[in-house]
Amino acid sequence: MLAAFAVPTVILGIESSCDETAAAVLVDGAVRSNVVASQDVHRSWGGVVPELASRAHQEHIVPVVQQALREAGVAKEDLGVVAFTRGPGLIGALLVGTCFARSLAQALRIPLVAVDHVQAHVMAHFIRDGEERPMPAFPFLNLTVSGGHTQLVLVRSPLDMAVIGSTLDDAAGEAFDKGAKVLGLPYPGGPLIDRYARTGDPHRFAFPKPALPGLALSFSGLKTAFAQLVRQGEQQHPGFAEAERDNLCASLQQAIIDHLLAKARRAMREHGLRTIGVAGGVAANSGLRARLAALGGQEGWTVHIPPFAYCTDNAAMIAMAGHHLLQAGRLAPLDTVPVARSH
Ligand code: KG4
Ligand code: ZN
Repeated sequence: MLAAFAVPTVILGIESSCDETAAAVLVDGAVRSNVVASQDVHRSWGGVVPELASRAHQEHIVPVVQQALREAGVAKEDLGVVAFTRGPGLIGALLVGTCFARSLAQALRIPLVAVDHVQAHVMAHFIRDGEERPMPAFPFLNLTVSGGHTQLVLVRSPLDMAVIGSTLDDAAGEAFDKGAKVLGLPYPGGPLIDRYARTGDPHRFAFPKPALPGLALSFSGLKTAFAQLVRQGEQQHPGFAEAERDNLCASLQQAIIDHLLAKARRAMREHGLRTIGVAGGVAANSGLRARLAALGGQEGWTVHIPPFAYCTDNAAMIAMAGHHLLQAGRLAPLDTVPVARSH
């Protein structure tokens, strides 16, 4: 076990777990730059194509890091540590960020810190960027909702998190993306569902509610019910999906949020918590943000919702997680390999 030591002031964060190549610079714990290159190459495929993601990361990583350094006004020689996403994610995508981070740390003779991507999403609440935002008090519940994960996390400190509930099948983001695919919308469908839902009726179509014990979540039944509804609608009334697009989006979004909030409320009660946060790509959803804020008002909770840029995949959250790991002396060896799954 390494002894804790003073945190070097300049941290470079690198993220490459899925379809975003991202780099961020943190100086004295505050974000100086946060650069994200999204990969348009997946749009027409209806989902992320792992091989294409790896190639795009290879193309983007050097320019993205250079831009992050430039925007932060620091030279690479100023860096004190490199923090990178070790996993979970697509292994070929993670390899690009991992190899880059290892090589840079070795060349500059600076420490390396390996970050868990899903835990890092929670760090979105603690990013300081010059804007005044209250940070959640510990312990709090975080609803971590992304394209790959849906978790109820009991956060006791930045380095002490316990997953107390999670999805048994699809993630909430997948429910959005697969629903969008059924409607013929490009990947990622979540933001489009969000947009069309604003002008739709969320009560136009109802779906069976998953009856799962405890804090377990599930979205695969909803996905199937939604696909069936659209298929049958098209059979009976060709053009149904197009004509009902906004109502379908609003109803699907409503069902996803209902399920998330029912489980979050149960977790809050069971664990006697008063503070809740939401993070991950789906936390960018305007319906979820509004309904969580409203529920928090009713229940007397303090609600924390990070700015959009820190909800979807970014490297500021990786650098922030790296900051805490480094403070605790938890460095990674230079031969660290990525992991596709956390456990
Ligand atoms: O956290 P993230 O960027 O990547 C993963 O770690 O998975 O999350 C991506 C997911 C995708 O499923 C995307 O459709 C969803 O977040 N998403 C949204 C919205 N913005 C992104 N889902 C619903 N509404 C949004 N506004
Ligand atoms: Zn993510």
